[in-house]
Amino acid sequence: MSYLCPLCHSPLSLDEKSFVCPQGHQFDKAKEGYVNLLPVQHKRSRDPGDSSEMMQARRAFLDAGHYQPLRDTICQFLKQAAPESLLDIGCGEGYYTAGFADSLAELTQDIWGLDVAKVAIRYAAKRYPQVQFCVASSHRLPFDSESLDAVVRIFAPCKAEELARVVKPGGIVITATPGPRHLMQLKGLIYQDVMLHSEAAESLPGFVEEETKKTGWPMTLRGQEAVALLQMTPFAWRARPEVWEALAAETAFACETDFVVRVWRREG
Ligand SMILES: C[S@@+](CC[C@H](N)C(=O)[O-])C[C@H]1O[C@@H](n2cnc3c(N)ncnc32)[C@H](O)[C@@H]1O
Ligand SMILES: [Zn+2]
Repeated sequence: MSYLCPLCHSPLSLDEKSFVCPQGHQFDKAKEGYVNLLPVQHKRSRDPGDSSEMMQARRAFLDAGHYQPLRDTICQFLKQAAPESLLDIGCGEGYYTAGFADSLAELTQDIWGLDVAKVAIRYAAKRYPQVQFCVASSHRLPFDSESLDAVVRIFAPCKAEELARVVKPGGIVITATPGPRHLMQLKGLIYQDVMLHSEAAESLPGFVEEETKKTGWPMTLRGQEAVALLQMTPFAWRARPEVWEALAAETAFACETDFVVRVWRREG
């Protein structure tokens, strides 16, 4: 299985250090081992995706193991499915992707990680050679139709049509999204009235929801860990300087996690 050329959609083949298509479009492999398949004309901004600062905060936080139960839950579902090929969409700095690769080592041939943020993919590829990483947008996945057995999407955007296109009939998508109480103590520092996330039923056109698992646990964070957690959230930009200072001074900040993990089966 190979990538598709983002310009003409023909298969790319690896020729020494470059991926090339029959039309002669060429994408060089970076020294860290990833390939950038996001042409300038498909970029919406100069540096799309998460910033370097967010990515480094996420790496420090994830490395400390605070979200390991989420990774373990998804690994269990993946082991049951035993996919030959797996794509992690919006994989960031690769913490989950590498965890999947390690736990599926005997079962899965190809493990791909994709993110629109080049800085995240550079860090991911440098640390985790067991995964094939590319810079690309989830709105135009550089994979052939019906080519993947499993796709994971953890807190990352993706068009449902693209998921339905690339997943094989009978294949799966696993999504992880925030549950109602997710990080509510952190939000409480920023918003006067914390709105619980709605627990509306979700749908994914072309897929049938097969399993749903709610998971959550309490965390006790040191100041710097709580700061890193805030940095990796979308509400960081709303936090006033006093909030950052108060969090940094915490010795045991108590905060809940709440996740919903769903397994969706491709119809057909
Ligand atoms: C909240 S982060 C989650 C990262 C990782 N899955 C995790 O949970 O640690 C969302 C990720 O999606 C990426 N992203 C945002 N828009 C994207 C797009 N259009 N295509 C691919 N990735 C995108 C960001 O760069 C970021 O790494
Ligand atoms: Zn091409």
